Amino acid sequence: MKKFLVCGHTNIETTLAIDAFPIEYSPMRYPFFGIQTAVAGVGYNITKALATLGTPVNFLTLVGEDFFGEQVRQQAKTNGLADDFIVAGMPQTAQSVILYDKQGKRQGHTDLKDVQERPYPPELFQQALQESDWAILANINWTRPFLAKAQNAGIPIATDVHTITALDDDYNRDYMAAATILFMSDERLPLPPEQWAKKVQNEFGTEIVVIGLGAKGALLAVKSDNFCERLPAVQTRPIVNTIGAGDSLFASFNHFYGKTGDPYAALQKAILFASYKIGSDGAAAGFLTEAALESIEVKSAK
Ligand SMILES: Nc1ncnc2c1ncn2[C@@H]1O[C@H](COP(=O)(O)OP(=O)(O)OP(=O)(O)O)[C@@H](O)[C@H]1O
Ligand SMILES: [Mg+2]
Repeated sequence: MKKFLVCGHTNIETTLAIDAFPIEYSPMRYPFFGIQTAVAGVGYNITKALATLGTPVNFLTLVGEDFFGEQVRQQAKTNGLADDFIVAGMPQTAQSVILYDKQGKRQGHTDLKDVQERPYPPELFQQALQESDWAILANINWTRPFLAKAQNAGIPIATDVHTITALDDDYNRDYMAAATILFMSDERLPLPPEQWAKKVQNEFGTEIVVIGLGAKGALLAVKSDNFCERLPAVQTRPIVNTIGAGDSLFASFNHFYGKTGDPYAALQKAILFASYKIGSDGAAAGFLTEAALESIEVKSAK
């Protein structure tokens, strides 16, 4: 079994159920069980999804020297994740608030605190790298110096640049250039996803490009097969909140691709995994084990 290294952001996420967007003003609302707080963030979501599927993970993240930082550590232990690489490297832990409506549409508000200016200890990264066969480096600033190190180690690098709009994006270029497996969202693309995927592959030589198309599914481009096609989304249970859909697609794709080397079957399984995940209220909730995923029934293709 391959061991993964996951470097990514963690925050304390509060979800709030609302009736509809835009929110109509009233001085007080009582959404019983409609407010939940949990440990989440791209790094945490991916790690928890991978661990649930059975991939061993070294999880590297930065939290605060505060109450919430300690909560993250406790929650990681509760979820069966080792806390060896969780570093309290800043005064306050990042936080987010997610509003979601009855259709599952969501709006995130994220407070990164000063994480974008903080470094992660390089010697800890090096230690984790030595034990790893696969590197997931999320595009939070402190992972940037580790791209070259993972490249030198000769292991696959997977990253998700989320809502990208341009190839010469200053912030994301290093990540796009280093990735073997590159995920992104179609939400702000300047071109149809097929054309965009080709452009990315021509520029960076990326072997695997996956573009999340939300309710429409995902596009898969495999360079060595000259393949570029869409796979439809599926429905397995009612949608509650689509927060974290992209992270769950990314994590489960990497799990199955790492295991089998088959990107087509991996994306199909990832779409199934994501469809079930969005029936939960939080970004780090609703992950299936591999056995449960095998037995789940598709209600309909979208
Ligand atoms: N409304 C939906 N109905 C069915 N499946 C969905 C829906 N929204 C998302 N999914 C599934 O989750 C996957 C990932 O969602 P999406 O494409 O929105 O990710 P993303 O835009 O990359 O990231 P984010 O989570 O930030 O939106 C989709 O490819 C699809 O399989
Ligand atoms: Mg999306």
